Amino acid sequence: MSEEPLRRVLVTGGAGYIGSHVIYSLQETRRYKVVSVDNHHNSTPKALVRVAEIARNNLPTDASDKDKDSAEIDAFQADLTKPDEIRKVFATYGKGGIWGVVHIAAYKAVGESTEIPLTYYANNVGATISLLQIMKEFDCTRIVYSSSATVYGTPPVIPIPETTRLQAHSPYGKTKVMCENIIEDICSAEPDTWRALSLRYFNPAGAHPSGLIGEDPRGRPGNLLPLLAQMAIGRVKDPLLKVFGNDYPTPDGTCVRDYLHVLDLAKGHLLALDALAPDSRVFAGIASGQPRFKGYNLGKGKGMSVLQIVEAMRKATGFDYKYEIIGRRKGDVPDLTADPSLAEKELGFTAPQTLETMCRDLWNWQTKNPNGYDGSA
Ligand code: NAD
Ligand code: WQD
Repeated sequence: MSEEPLRRVLVTGGAGYIGSHVIYSLQETRRYKVVSVDNHHNSTPKALVRVAEIARNNLPTDASDKDKDSAEIDAFQADLTKPDEIRKVFATYGKGGIWGVVHIAAYKAVGESTEIPLTYYANNVGATISLLQIMKEFDCTRIVYSSSATVYGTPPVIPIPETTRLQAHSPYGKTKVMCENIIEDICSAEPDTWRALSLRYFNPAGAHPSGLIGEDPRGRPGNLLPLLAQMAIGRVKDPLLKVFGNDYPTPDGTCVRDYLHVLDLAKGHLLALDALAPDSRVFAGIASGQPRFKGYNLGKGKGMSVLQIVEAMRKATGFDYKYEIIGRRKGDVPDLTADPSLAEKELGFTAPQTLETMCRDLWNWQTKNPNGYDGSA
């Protein structure tokens, strides 16, 4: 067993859908000590209680004190846009006390971002700037950033390579591009200080197979898979799916997306964090003075259409979905399929879990938590 102390890692947005699964993956290694910061704008502290429960249940019978410590989360309810609140978190551990940051927290609803763009810029960009400033104050200069396939706008080449120009359409997407640019700029300004990896998620889906943690959207879900799960459980008032367009240049005319299991995505964060270590091969070829910043696509590299997803969820749930084809949704692009080969080559990332497993795990979460975390113990 390694004698290395636990590496303390701050996960922002730790109580959210992706954050809770990333914490699970970090805790599973028993090499990290997780500190979570979340203001619970879109989540509940119950998610953190549940994820720590999974970690504790997974401890071996002969777990050391260090192992036991890795299963506990230091959870802070704090707002990243408020520097004093974040400074307090870092001050708890002192200079160099936090090894690295996985910055996941953000507002993420594309449609809402077109209605209240300033709120999105203030939260997503404001939080990132404050966080980076305070990280620097406390000699913490390793960061993994949650970006999105939405940074590619309407990509000219499918599958999408990382060399594609970043050109998001929505205010939400633009906040992701801006934050990537900000992080890259600090890596350029202080190349021997900062190391950063930006992870461009495609469409994460599913849940931890225990059914203890999962995606818990507020109100009627806007995203396809959580909507289908809530229709099948009877939580959605009007259970008629509106399929946004079947006249796209795709095999069945509906939009194609690259869905990956949230636990495969979470594993990608672990690989990225490990790649920020001094001996990492990811930055091995980069000369002193050159920025240590890279962006990676996290997807399966396999596209699925809306109708294929409906069929997969019918098989998983047994629910007879009714749908009607309506007009295209503003901002949708025909195909967002990743070329994940760079992440595979440099990080060792793969997303092996099948669409069937994603749908099974989503349905398991939904049936065990019909009303999400609310109403459950
Ligand atoms: P989520 O809403 O479930 O989680 C985000 C968490 O961040 C929430 O718990 C929220 O309360 C917290 N948060 C937001 N602003 C905060 C602030 N100012 N201070 C502290 N906490 C704050 O969303 P998610 O689906 O887990 O997405 C996480 C990240 O992944 C986001 O950055 C999102 O843009 C990105 N992303 C998500 C998807 C997806 O399909 N879920 C796809 C691509 C990228
Ligand atoms: C998938 C497909 C819809 C609902 C969004 C964000 C993206 C990223 C992931 C954060 C599309 C179709 C959906 C419905 C439908 N998030 N659909 N009827 O749009 O690929 O990505 O979430 O970064 O930025 O834009 O995901 O689940 O909303 O849609 O026909 O009621 O399902 O048109 O083709 P999307 P989605």
